[in-house]
Amino acid sequence: MCGIIGYVGERPVSDVLLKGLKRLEYRGYDSSGVAMFHGGKIEVHKAAGKITEIEPLLADRKQKGLEGGIGHTRWATHGAPNTKNAHPHKVGDIVLVHNGIIENYREIQKLVHSKGLTPKSETDSELFAFLVHFEMTEEKCSFVEAVRKSFLKITGASSVVAMHEQHPGLIVGVRNGSPLVAAWNPELGAMLASDAQPLLDYANTVHYLENGDMIVCERNKIEFIDAHSGLKISRPGVKIDWSADRLDKNGYPHYMLKEIHEQSRTILDTLNANFAASGAHLPFDFAPHPGIDNLSRTDRLSIVACGTSWHASLLGKYWLEKFAGLSVEAELASEFRYRSPVLKKNQVLMGVSQSGETADTLAVIQDVNKREIPTMCITNVKGSTIARESKSALYTYAGPEIGVASTKAFTGQMLMLLLLAGKLGRDVAVNDSTGKAMGEIERTYRELFEVPHHLSNALMEGSPTAKAVKAAALATQNSKGFFFIGRGYSFPIALEGALKLKEIAYVHAEGYAAGELKHGPIAMLEPDFTVIVLAPHDMWYEKTVSNLQEVKARGARIIAIGHADDKQIPQMCDHFIPMPIKTKKDDGTPTMSEALNPFLLAPILQLFSYEIATMKGTDVDQPRNLAKSVTVE
Ligand code: M6R
Repeated sequence: MCGIIGYVGERPVSDVLLKGLKRLEYRGYDSSGVAMFHGGKIEVHKAAGKITEIEPLLADRKQKGLEGGIGHTRWATHGAPNTKNAHPHKVGDIVLVHNGIIENYREIQKLVHSKGLTPKSETDSELFAFLVHFEMTEEKCSFVEAVRKSFLKITGASSVVAMHEQHPGLIVGVRNGSPLVAAWNPELGAMLASDAQPLLDYANTVHYLENGDMIVCERNKIEFIDAHSGLKISRPGVKIDWSADRLDKNGYPHYMLKEIHEQSRTILDTLNANFAASGAHLPFDFAPHPGIDNLSRTDRLSIVACGTSWHASLLGKYWLEKFAGLSVEAELASEFRYRSPVLKKNQVLMGVSQSGETADTLAVIQDVNKREIPTMCITNVKGSTIARESKSALYTYAGPEIGVASTKAFTGQMLMLLLLAGKLGRDVAVNDSTGKAMGEIERTYRELFEVPHHLSNALMEGSPTAKAVKAAALATQNSKGFFFIGRGYSFPIALEGALKLKEIAYVHAEGYAAGELKHGPIAMLEPDFTVIVLAPHDMWYEKTVSNLQEVKARGARIIAIGHADDKQIPQMCDHFIPMPIKTKKDDGTPTMSEALNPFLLAPILQLFSYEIATMKGTDVDQPRNLAKSVTVE
């Protein structure tokens, strides 16, 4: 979850480290620190809080980075988030930063105490520095060899990046589980980090370390070593097609708002990328893909994911069942991995993950790989661990998502799942003699290309939708609690709407299937409570309206979201948020297939949470206690 960076090269080391840490801050941000050479010694600067806290400490440290430096932004696991526990940790001449968890830390702690030594921090990370120190002082190992041997003594998913005071210009990294990526170019020198984003400012080809890899970085080269054998290995470069300018806010006050607005473009990018690759001769065409071939041959799919990605998966289940007749389970990876799931040999297992690094999702894929069941994934990050561990990968084209709360990556995942459902459904429908199913698939496909336009209309500042969102947020910001309810395709969106509000506004919110309300949660309703009813004109509309009436009868405040020309609901609720589409076009044909409503509802709810969060003054992009990439269980 933490962010690690290391640099050795021509540029001012403090600038490179600070800029890189800011790019990584979304991974964790409770404390931070850097270590760099100054006057022949390694100085460590660290502080509780965000990167801005250490910036002033480095104001007069602008020398070239030829002797190297490392940095860290932390999401606390062992030990409170304070300066003492912040990384880097220094023991003797060794200084290091760590991401992950050392599971056998008690054993190492005992060893350290048995030698009459006391760690300065409460972290498991500092203990690794002791191990390296012992290897060098007692076993007379070289620095690189000491890091290698120490690495073989720890268990759990970890990455470590280390320097030694007597070896300026040398940085050593090791990876097991927690990601580590390196780049080198003649002008820049060598750099490594927890993900590719900070490297994109300097290079567009990166090298991913595999589990059990070591890297030795010097100004003029990087070398990869198999940590188990100590032998040199090669790790080919991967070209990254995100440019660094996509990592900036582009004038928006927050990344999250920028990313909400970017969705029209990212949806179009994903559509275009897929259909350009396929030639799009038929609706929902895909370029040949082994994962899709496997799906075509099976009638059963298990999807695993966490958080927002699980909500997208749940929606995928609805689409895949309806369009493709596939039997789909959408499961929380953290539960699935410790159950005894019954999997069939001919089925497919799919992981859905924005980051491609989520520990639980990754663990399921690795377990299922051992059972010889085809695995695949949908992810936003090329070269990520989940992409590499899955037997095949499909990519969303959301670009880098910096706000911790997922927005555009969610719509990207939804879109990819819908495209899959459409493609598999089309293949079945082609043989359907009635042509009915094919008609719906063709229509959904056509209207999909209109979604970005509708979405821009919804989100545009001053639009009826955006104005209604703001007014509803203003009026309900101090509610005692929020329920989000919906049926069918709107149910996973209700779950996601509630998660967004909790994440960024720290407000109590729950998502429910609207039909579930009367089975318990309705007891909570009172005038101080707000219920957000997702009521687009779809096959569940009348039932949702009945649920809305039940809420109204209990006196709760109601925000309803529906089609712009809905006559009924605006009369029944306190605040009506119009989707920017009518139920029917002027010629009487329906405006948009109901399967596409989630692409408007989700961003509207994202905007609602954003408005409430900014009214409350929370840290929208880096909400408390969260990290974007959850690489520990
Ligand atoms: O990177 P992933 O999609 O695997 O992450 C899964 C969840 O951790 C993530 O969706 C989380 O729920 C976000 N904070 C949602 O905004």
